[in-house]
Amino acid sequence: MEMMISANNIVKSFGNKKVLDEISFHVRKGHIFGLLGPSGAGKTTLIKILTGQLKQDFGTAEINGLDTNKLTGEDHKKFGIMMDNFGIYERLNCYENLKVFADIYGIKKNCIFNALKKVGLAGAEKTTASKLSKGMTSRLRLARVFMINPDIIFLDEPTSGLDPATADEIHKIMLAEKEKGKTIFLTTHTMSEAEKLCNNIIIMDDGKIIEHGSPEEICRRYNHQRMLKIHLIDGTDIQLPHNENTADKVAELIRNGHVETIHTTEPNLETVFMELTGKELAI
Ligand SMILES: Nc1ncnc2c1ncn2[C@@H]1O[C@H](COP(=O)(O)OP(=O)(O)O)[C@@H](O)[C@H]1O
Ligand SMILES: [Mg+2]
Repeated sequence: MEMMISANNIVKSFGNKKVLDEISFHVRKGHIFGLLGPSGAGKTTLIKILTGQLKQDFGTAEINGLDTNKLTGEDHKKFGIMMDNFGIYERLNCYENLKVFADIYGIKKNCIFNALKKVGLAGAEKTTASKLSKGMTSRLRLARVFMINPDIIFLDEPTSGLDPATADEIHKIMLAEKEKGKTIFLTTHTMSEAEKLCNNIIIMDDGKIIEHGSPEEICRRYNHQRMLKIHLIDGTDIQLPHNENTADKVAELIRNGHVETIHTTEPNLETVFMELTGKELAI
């Protein structure tokens, strides 16, 4: 099993506030790994450490076997980063924005056009960045990542604030990259996004990992939250916990001919997070 990203007991404080508290995990090659957590959980701080933009206080981080504190300019060219502080030049058009980075990275012109096409910005080459919608700006940020054809891609809340259709297109692009064997490290506060895309996730709250595993595994662990949704012939709906204590009640309803349909509801990451923290994963 080839590990592309490893974090071992990462600790980071800002002043007295511990923002990352002994964070450890591994990301396999070709996986989409999700870091889930509410605003302020420490997601962006962790991405900055993993990409060598910030130094941790304790612990070690490696990407592709390299210590993230010792990355060279050449190393940096091998991974793509999309995050808010990687700005777009408002006064340049889409093509010019990418050209700035293409020149730094020694990337050919046709790669710029290919990247714009890939993210659905073909035809918008000459549009000034300041005139782009939020969705198009996100696409342009993504184009910059894909232009360098990196093996490891870090995406910090790539679909935050986007409409569902644009988010869905970005999901498709991510899944296509995964199919090509790329490794993606994704942060999100959208549980449905993690369930849809990620092989493995960690859930963080207040700088600590509170759950880890595949989305399915985690949901299975919280199977006691399974509910039976029963629709009665008289039109009313009732919900009962899915366990042996309710079996008699359900049998009685069926025997007496009251039941029209029965469904089971599986726990999702949203309900898991709620159980773990007592909080909603609000935006
Ligand atoms: N440069 C900084 N100086 C001081 N505090 C910071 C700094 N960067 C982040 N923080 C604090 O660290 C915590 C985690 O922030 P962040 O990593 O941005 O969380 P997330 O990306 O999950 O929303 C927050 O409480 C934030 O205010
Ligand atoms: Mg953040």
